[in-house]
Amino acid sequence: MARLAQRVRELAPSQTLALSAKANELAAAGHPVINFSVGEPDFTSPQAAMDAGRAAIDAGDTHYPPVPGTASLRKAIVDKVAQTTGRTYGPQHVLVSNGAKHTLYNLLQVLVDPGDEVAFASPYWVSYPAMVQLAGGLSVPIPTRASDGFRLDPAAVDAALGPRVKALILNSPCNPTGAVADPADVEAVVRIALDKGVTVISDEIYGALVFGGAEHRSAVSVDHPGVAEGVILVDGVSKSYAMTGWRIGYCVGPEDVIKAAGKIQGQSTSGACTIAQAAAAGALRGGDAEAARMRDAFAARRDVMLEALRAIPGVTVPEAQGAFYAFPDVSSYYGAEIDGVTIKDSLDLSTLLLERAYVGCVPGGAFGADAHLRLSYALAEDQIREGVGRIAEVLAGAKVKA
Ligand SMILES: Cc1ncc(COP(=O)(O)O)c(C=O)c1O
Repeated sequence: MARLAQRVRELAPSQTLALSAKANELAAAGHPVINFSVGEPDFTSPQAAMDAGRAAIDAGDTHYPPVPGTASLRKAIVDKVAQTTGRTYGPQHVLVSNGAKHTLYNLLQVLVDPGDEVAFASPYWVSYPAMVQLAGGLSVPIPTRASDGFRLDPAAVDAALGPRVKALILNSPCNPTGAVADPADVEAVVRIALDKGVTVISDEIYGALVFGGAEHRSAVSVDHPGVAEGVILVDGVSKSYAMTGWRIGYCVGPEDVIKAAGKIQGQSTSGACTIAQAAAAGALRGGDAEAARMRDAFAARRDVMLEALRAIPGVTVPEAQGAFYAFPDVSSYYGAEIDGVTIKDSLDLSTLLLERAYVGCVPGGAFGADAHLRLSYALAEDQIREGVGRIAEVLAGAKVKA
């Protein structure tokens, strides 16, 4: 009899975390690693978050928190959501968890029965299919194409939402593509899902990180009578306030789902860390000026990254208008030989880049898009130029097989 349960034996480890760990190992061994594989801002959390966290420690705020989150943080969340989406919620509509990843895990546990289907756009964030699988559900990827900026076409959503689909996960701005959904498409897609009785989980963790003329439209701001009961907003402080280590995420939505997710949380992890909740409330109330500066820095870095990648022959890079990822198509190098290694796919290429050039990228295969690599530009501009320069050098040695 196998010691480990079937559910974990069948589960793939997170390739983003695996590549990042390998890059860290090489860096610790003294190699000059430039790591484009990390999914986190390199900035320090806003001063308001640090001050609030410190004040919570000094005040002895060190006891078990309420499972759904502290009153102060839940108030800060409903205020922020009202300000950014125009929709009014109460604290009973909010559940605070240990990062938005935990939030999503709780929600899928609450909504999905074995055999239920969950739809989401492909390329997708690595953890969606894994979390659906852990809940006993089946993933329904909805294909999108680089050629039209990975647009989630409402007609494709309509076709994908069959009778067994229980939930639709939206993710705009998108990890890994950086695509930002057009507001009219958000409107159309939410309407289609709600009209079919499909619950929408809108992962808007990168919502504050949109650049240029792009506009982020929250799914809960759609004007449809079913939104309050049928749409769950997922967000957190990790990306927009550079607070990945504090581990605070949250969802806002209908009371029955929030209560049920709280029940799962109450029997598994309990409430999130009190100090971190205080810091998150500090960020939501007083961290916006610093968050805006970070966003502007990401916008400038994006330009550097896209320009450098586009200068590499045979690499095409779709426009990324949000989050902090570039998603170049490198498949013209597949089948070629580089340094004696035949490159078959995105995993081969990212392994080679890490081993030969000490540049960490995530293989697109992890996101259901093997033609691509994902490069985070949450790095200083000179690091971006140096890292992409090293990639260009490696690729310049490619011998295309006859
Ligand atoms: C699309 C997406 N959703 C959710 C998360 C989870 O964020 P966290 O758990 O750090 O709050 C991430 C983090 O990488 C992400 O990329």
